[in-house]
Formats: sequence, structure tokens, C-alpha cells
Amino acid sequence: MAEADDNQSHPSTLAHGLSNAHYIDPDVHARENEAVLFTSWSSIRFAKDIPNPGDASPVEFLGRPLLLVRGKDDDLHVFENVCRHRGMVLVDKPTTFKGVIRCPYHSWCYGFNAALKTTPHVGGPGIHDHPDMDKENLGLVPVRSQVWMGIIFVNISGDGQAFSDYIAPVEARWSDFMGKPIFHAGEDSSFHLEVNCNWKLAIENYCESYHLPWVHPALNQYSKLEDHYKIIEEAGQFSGQGTRVYAPSLDETGHRFIKFEGLPDKWDTAGEYI
Ligand code: FES
Repeated sequence: MAEADDNQSHPSTLAHGLSNAHYIDPDVHARENEAVLFTSWSSIRFAKDIPNPGDASPVEFLGRPLLLVRGKDDDLHVFENVCRHRGMVLVDKPTTFKGVIRCPYHSWCYGFNAALKTTPHVGGPGIHDHPDMDKENLGLVPVRSQVWMGIIFVNISGDGQAFSDYIAPVEARWSDFMGKPIFHAGEDSSFHLEVNCNWKLAIENYCESYHLPWVHPALNQYSKLEDHYKIIEEAGQFSGQGTRVYAPSLDETGHRFIKFEGLPDKWDTAGEYI
């Protein structure tokens, strides 16, 4: 009751975290996937990890097996990683295919553009077609996707807002960087973190610098807690944090990252994380 009274007298100064169920309840998690994560856009990998035509790599996203494929046209495709015959997972580790994607179960083969190409012995020994099969409609199932700044995004439901609308607020905030070339320097230009918690807990941590003095004391020596600011955009857009003192250290050979040409001076020492 006291809390309710407080809410009424100070409605704008009270903040409440989400209830425990939002972090531990599998039912809430499942509903959240459907209502939030599948209907919006999510980044799942870097395009540099699938560099050459024929390269294919599996990703499991919230229990959905997805397949990333670099086509002959150099475009990046995302499909359901599921054979249209009996549902076999097509690719279980990064692979380079020569001409087609071959299912390991009964060897149905798909083109890099999803089309079902061959179905060996499907009509009986030595007969590779069947009149009742509609091959045209048995290609791999595409997943709505978009590559932006070298990052692969997917919209699982397929009916979320247009990607250009989704990303527009970010492009507006970071307009200084739009059109700049992005380079990735091979395997060690990214790293993989396995985070044993609900996704919101990881993101909430990422959005605050409060923990810096105790968890990242080395970082806090040159980019201190007080040098950081919060980035809070309208609901449904994005949030994060920034620092006014960002000075990536030299590597062991004395190199720093190359700077983009023509950026405003503020970016000499600023960094933002959304
Ligand atoms: S399950 Fe893929 S060919 Fe049979």
C-alpha cells in the first residue's frame, strides 16, 4: 500500500525493474520471443564469417535452426536450416559447398538460391523425380534478412517493419559513419562470448557504466565512470551508453586502429555502444 501511495505522489521519480519471471520463467521467455524478438530485427552474425560463394554456416537463434549461405552472386542468404524432405538439419558446422547444398540424409540437393535441384531415387531406384512432387515449391524456406554495416539481421516473423525504418534512428544518430568502409581483419576481428543468463540481463549490463570501477578497473583508469553518458532513445528504438574518453591502446606491435577520414573531432575521443 505504501508503495502504491508513493507511486501516486512521485510518479516520475520511481523506477521498477521487471519481475523475476521475466528472467527465469520459460513461458515468459517463449512469449517474449514471439512478441518481441521474432517480430523485430535481431543481429545474428557478421557477414565476414561467410566470406566466399558457397560458404555456409549454421546459427541457432532462439531455438530456430538457421543457415547462412553466401550465394554465387556474392549475396548473403538466410534460410531455415531444415531439409524440405524429412526435416533433417542440413548443415551442422561451417562448410564450403562446391555447387549445391546437399542434405546428409537422402541427398536432396538445393541451390545457393534455395531452389530444390535434385532428389535422387525419389521415384524408385534410378528414378529421380516423381509426378506428385512439386519441386518448385520445395525449395529452402527463406528467412527475411538484411546485411547492415557488415552485420546480418533477421526478422523471423517475416512481417516486421521495413529494415530501413527500423535502422533509421541509428543511422541518424551515427550519420557521421554512414557510407564509411567497414573492414574486418579475419578471425580475430571478432570474439565470441557465451553468456549464461537471460538476454535482458546481459543487455542491461551493457547499457550501464556503473559497474566499471569494480568489474573493469583497467578500463576505468582511462575511461572513467564519470566520462560516460547514457543513450536513451524513444521506446522501441535503442539504448546504450557512450564515453567521451575513448583511447584504444596500442597493440603489441604498436599499431592503432586506422581512423575514418573526415569525421568530426568529437569522435577522436568518443565511443558509443548501443
Ligand atoms: S531429410 Fe533431407 S533428403 Fe531426406
